[in-house]
Amino acid sequence: MTSSLILALGADHGGVALKNRLAVALVEAGHEVRDYGTDSPVSVDYPDFAQAVCAAVEEKKADFGILVCGSGIGMSIAANRHGGIRCGLVHDVTTARLTRAHNDANVLALGARIIGEEVALDILSVFLTTEFEGGRHQRRLAKLNQNTEPTS
Ligand code: RB5
Repeated sequence: MTSSLILALGADHGGVALKNRLAVALVEAGHEVRDYGTDSPVSVDYPDFAQAVCAAVEEKKADFGILVCGSGIGMSIAANRHGGIRCGLVHDVTTARLTRAHNDANVLALGARIIGEEVALDILSVFLTTEFEGGRHQRRLAKLNQNTEPTS
């Protein structure tokens, strides 16, 4: 992985085991982990943990956020409601690379019931080592927060 980063991690009960495994790998790789929970398999609500992780990223307390739930879908929906967050829901290394290179994603969402541990570790490595390409992609990012009010 790349030079030392600060990573904000969060999960619900569906993602806690994978989140804890990723935390171990990140620390072994020399990164700093800020773990926003959950810490047990007791049922919780994923928006609470997405909120904590996304706030940490928006407040620049972390370089990237990593969110894990059962499917990754709820976490990604919650994360992308934050104006300063670009969250990619990723199931393979190709979309891990593209969400960094093209979308400059600052939060990664994973579905622990969808992908295996080895795939998740490979995704994490690619996500953290791929640079944003800028250029035409920067122009598109600038449009993401336009027209976000309901049109009714
Ligand atoms: C929890 O059962 C599950 O709904 C949650 O982990 C996630 O998959 C939601 O999108």
